[in-house]
Amino acid sequence: MSAGGSRQLGRVVAGIERAPGKMIDPAEFAEIMEDLDVSGVLASLPGGLSEADFIGILKLTMLTECATETFADAIETNALRHDAGWLFRFTHNVWTPDELTHATPYKYILMRLGFAESELDREIRETRGRSLEHRSGVTPMHLTTYGMLSEYATDKWHGAIHQMLRRSCPAAAYMAARVKRRETFHRVWYRDMTAVQIQANPGLARYVGEVMLTFRMPGASLAPELQKEAGRWLTLMEWDFEPAAKELIRLLNDVLAEPGRLGRLLMTIAAERGERIGPLSGRSAQRAMALAGGAGYGLVGEALLESAGLGYLVDVHDGGEGSGVPANEPLKLRRLLRTWLARRLDLDMRSRFTNRATT
Ligand SMILES: [Fe+2]
Ligand SMILES: [Fe+2]
Repeated sequence: MSAGGSRQLGRVVAGIERAPGKMIDPAEFAEIMEDLDVSGVLASLPGGLSEADFIGILKLTMLTECATETFADAIETNALRHDAGWLFRFTHNVWTPDELTHATPYKYILMRLGFAESELDREIRETRGRSLEHRSGVTPMHLTTYGMLSEYATDKWHGAIHQMLRRSCPAAAYMAARVKRRETFHRVWYRDMTAVQIQANPGLARYVGEVMLTFRMPGASLAPELQKEAGRWLTLMEWDFEPAAKELIRLLNDVLAEPGRLGRLLMTIAAERGERIGPLSGRSAQRAMALAGGAGYGLVGEALLESAGLGYLVDVHDGGEGSGVPANEPLKLRRLLRTWLARRLDLDMRSRFTNRATT
């Protein structure tokens, strides 16, 4: 990282340290625990979600959240190894103390459902004793990209639990929402740290694809039996895929800063996974792009944005409606092509693109 880039990252982290938002005070949850009434919860689970599933959801959340120190150790060691004092400070001073409060509400809910504290503590100790199999790279750029995606996923996860409990147990839903809001902060912070690194060194943009292709939630190594059910549970919790996909694409566009990079990312992922883009295999599409000198990546990126309802992000710059800039003929043609392509980037492909980052 250039000296200028490191200084900028230092400023971002100093800003976070100054204003980390309202952290959770564990006493807040202890008070709610006093009269937490979970009696109606099991009787009003969404259709298809069994009691065992619900317990599994709570345990997966508690066990992955309780392993904060395992993640913190890994991030801090690598931050020091790569001379990234800013990432060490962020992890040590803000992220870790914040994350340490997240397992508590889930433990409380399980206790109210009849689980003995000693039994839950034993499971927590066992999980903390496991090692994290992280395979998405150890440079600061890999780590912040991984952080951004995993915080995005946990944000959605706690949000789905909040939705599910809203009516049957508002106090438990409140605690889940409180944790969700902290995960939103984390996601935004990791997004900003990732964006600054790419701004300072555009060559790092390719690491986003590397992380997405190797991404696995921490639960995959810490609680594998539970984590493998997470995709099914999300569907049963009526997780709203459309807005989540849109949010993820927006997040990626924010860090990559150019539709061309977004297009390249989409096509790299499709090619590596052997998926199709319209009538072409991902590999043939990628070869065609390379022959065209890579100019088509911008169009693919714009089409992806349009297919997610984010076309206005590029219209502002290229003379689309509402931009105040008159569109000339080549730009009009480009927009037509983009729309044609956007319709072919079917929902199914976008769903696979998103699912990779959530389960
Ligand atoms: Fe968390
Ligand atoms: Fe988090």
